[in-house]
Amino acid sequence: MAKLQGKIALITGGTSGIGAATAKLFQAEGATVIATGSSQASVDAARADLPGIELLVSDASDTAAAKALVDQVKAKHGRIDVLFANAGRAQFAPIEQVDEAFFDHQFNTNVRGVYFLLKHAAPVIADGGAIILTASVAGSTGGLPGASVYGATKAALRSFGRTFAKELSPRGIRVNTVSPGPINTPIFLKNGYPQAAADAFLEGAKTRIPLGRAGYPDEVARAALYLAADATYTTGAEVFVDGGLVDI
Ligand SMILES: NC(=O)c1ccc[n+]([C@@H]2O[C@H](COP(=O)([O-])OP(=O)(O)OC[C@H]3O[C@@H](n4cnc5c(N)ncnc54)[C@H](OP(=O)(O)O)[C@@H]3O)[C@@H](O)[C@H]2O)c1
Repeated sequence: MAKLQGKIALITGGTSGIGAATAKLFQAEGATVIATGSSQASVDAARADLPGIELLVSDASDTAAAKALVDQVKAKHGRIDVLFANAGRAQFAPIEQVDEAFFDHQFNTNVRGVYFLLKHAAPVIADGGAIILTASVAGSTGGLPGASVYGATKAALRSFGRTFAKELSPRGIRVNTVSPGPINTPIFLKNGYPQAAADAFLEGAKTRIPLGRAGYPDEVARAALYLAADATYTTGAEVFVDGGLVDI
């Protein structure tokens, strides 16, 4: 039997990378999948790659949009069984170059938007459901130059995961965090960096990471599936999918 047969799964940031891989895997496991992107253009571009998946535009940094998204899913599907809060932006700069717009953009998308999505979604998540947050090794590893803002946003998600696990445990809702290391996705290009930066990031993974390579989106998707379906006695946990990076 498929692991998510009959389940309603909402995935934010499902138009590419980790979210798209997870949308496909959840769908293959029997779920009805609703996935979001930030713009009509990115949603339209993703459509051909994600047949059968309901794609919606919903700006993850906009708390009103988060409420509207939950209302829309509730109206059509009645409930959410699995919420994968995955949408995120990654921008890197040393503190001298960080301004308030840079700081707010990432905190609004990666932290504030996720917090209020969870607030609005919690009443709609079925008892016994699952929430998975995409954080990052950057939330745990210290001293990654340029990642002061991004790392702090992901550390916040690790904290949300642990706290919401306690708050929602009376309803049997499990809340867990998946923290990827370097994964080969369009994240650099989507955040305005050149292909050369993406290539350097992936090349650097070969020497920095014990397993000697960057990961693939499907490897994170399988961790998300584990947390969504199999990990029935796991809540408040953080699963690293990072080739061993954080234990160095
Ligand atoms: N790749 C890595 O090495 C890595 C490592 C650790 C953690 N992560 C985390 O993994 C998550 C997924 O990243 P990815 O690597 O798969 O990158 P990606 O391919 O760039 O995917 C990011 C997804 O988030 C969506 N998104 C971003 N901002 C949004 C907004 N304001 N509103 C709605 N959707 C928004 C994007 O939608 P649009 O395309 O429609 O804009 C896209 O679907 C992120 O939270 C990222 O921080 C990635």
